[in-house]
Amino acid sequence: MTGPTGNVGRHVVSQLTAAGLEVRALVRDPARAPEGVEAVKGDLFAPETLEPALEGVESVFLIWPGFAAATAAPVVKLVAAHARRIVYLSADVEDLADDERPTLFHQEIERLIRHTGLSWTFLRPGGFAANTLGWAEQIRQGVVRWPYGEARRALIHEKDIAAVAVHVLTSAGHGGARYVLSGPEQLTQAEQARIIGEVVGREVRWEEMPPDEAREWLLGSWGEATFVDGALATWRSFVDAPERVTDTVPRLLGRPALTFREWAGDHAGDFR
Ligand SMILES: NC(=O)c1ccc[n+]([C@@H]2O[C@H](COP(=O)([O-])OP(=O)(O)OC[C@H]3O[C@@H](n4cnc5c(N)ncnc54)[C@H](OP(=O)(O)O)[C@@H]3O)[C@@H](O)[C@H]2O)c1
Repeated sequence: MTGPTGNVGRHVVSQLTAAGLEVRALVRDPARAPEGVEAVKGDLFAPETLEPALEGVESVFLIWPGFAAATAAPVVKLVAAHARRIVYLSADVEDLADDERPTLFHQEIERLIRHTGLSWTFLRPGGFAANTLGWAEQIRQGVVRWPYGEARRALIHEKDIAAVAVHVLTSAGHGGARYVLSGPEQLTQAEQARIIGEVVGREVRWEEMPPDEAREWLLGSWGEATFVDGALATWRSFVDAPERVTDTVPRLLGRPALTFREWAGDHAGDFR
């Protein structure tokens, strides 16, 4: 598996190892490898380093870091040469025809994967609740200043994405599925900030940041202008057309999806 130190991957590790399964994790820095896995050093942006991690694996859980698919073609080819099954952590994207230009790297990577002989499953989550960790410092100050406070999202707990990944990796019948994943409820960003405040026992106020100012800030932080503009346009769209809630998590896991308040409770320490 990839991304074992990240938001989703750390839960994939703990849930797979709790189920008693053998896990090999690709890491850039072995010192940061989680407990209980066989850590193998490699870098997705340097495909020539990946062979040792792929030797003898049956299934691959792939997450793609960053915003560009530059080395994805050789990586997917290598995975197909070794494994039988791939579960790819994508995003809530449209299917792309073979002659269409991708607007997001996830579409490009999905297309590469579809063209292999691998049994594939795409996990297509909407917004991660973990994105609100970016407000941690502002929550501590009692004011969240960010654009589109009325944007309504169905944020998902990273534990639920991981649980679906583990379910798909450990059971049959998911080949060719595109699972659109969400949390159980739609909440505005201002409501999310208030809920985090309630959970950590602090009153938190929302202050609207003008989109132009947010764009400057995001450009400095993310770099990629197309990704920044795409994200701002998506957030704006959620003011009038909230992010969709799907029943995929309860349908696959047989229990309700975790709420944003539960997520905030799990992360209270990050906001104190
Ligand atoms: N945030 C959202 O709302 C959202 C929504 C839909 C889809 N997604 C997608 O979800 C994915 C991110 O998942 P996440 O939040 O779990 O990740 P994350 O917390 O950002 O962690 C990234 C992981 O990838 C590893 N990594 C980074 N660069 C690497 C490289 N060059 N080679 C190998 N490993 C590398 C990191 O390991 P080290 O740094 O420890 O080496 C870490 O384990 C992205 O593809 C994103 O587009 C996100």
